[in-house]
Amino acid sequence: MSPQPLSGLFVTFEGGEGAGKTTQVARLAARLRARGLEPVLTREPGGTPVAEGVRALLLDTQHRPTALAEAFLMEAARAELVSGVIRPALASGRVVLCDRYDDSTLAYQGAGRGLDADVLRTLNRAATGGLVPGLTLLFDLDPAVGLARRAGASGATNRLDREPADFHARVRARFLELARAEPGRFVVLDAALTPEALEARIWEAVEPRLAAVR
Ligand code: TYD
Repeated sequence: MSPQPLSGLFVTFEGGEGAGKTTQVARLAARLRARGLEPVLTREPGGTPVAEGVRALLLDTQHRPTALAEAFLMEAARAELVSGVIRPALASGRVVLCDRYDDSTLAYQGAGRGLDADVLRTLNRAATGGLVPGLTLLFDLDPAVGLARRAGASGATNRLDREPADFHARVRARFLELARAEPGRFVVLDAALTPEALEARIWEAVEPRLAAVR
């Protein structure tokens, strides 16, 4: 449970590679600004100077940390971001949009790397202090389509993009399982839709939740 009342709204964006999350974070932010709200935009791993340093280490194709070291580094970055950025923003009533959060650890380090889900849930709770998003938007897409989009868009791939197809298939399946287990928190989006259709669907999910934002 949260140690202090948090009056804002915490929205996380999850899914595989190249699913269009980043574009939709920007579009949702624009809609919120049009409503007179100033959202806080952040991402994982990253979002603070220390966490961005950890991100560089994690995504560098020159390194190959063990699965457990990779999980701990993700959690170290998360602990920094939650205490330094997300909790203070929510405490002051802001809407926080976070590109990935702790479900990514369950999907990538759990299903992808094969680490124990209970261990990862314990680490997630430690890093977040039990802070659970009010809404999680899951961008569901065939990984082959996502990776092809990413290669087409920038040509740049990070260390995790380069994992084999079965890794990405396991990640996708785990995200869908997580969504089925918590239907009140997750909204599953067909990321093959047009950006306009996705934006509209996301607004339908977010707008009713704004009533609780002070
Ligand atoms: P990024 O380039 O931000 O990918 P995307 O645009 O797809 O979000 O890189 C983040 C990578 O880190 C992505 O491959 C997923 C991975 N990741 C994990 O493996 N575990 C985690 O807990 C998080 C937050 C991210």
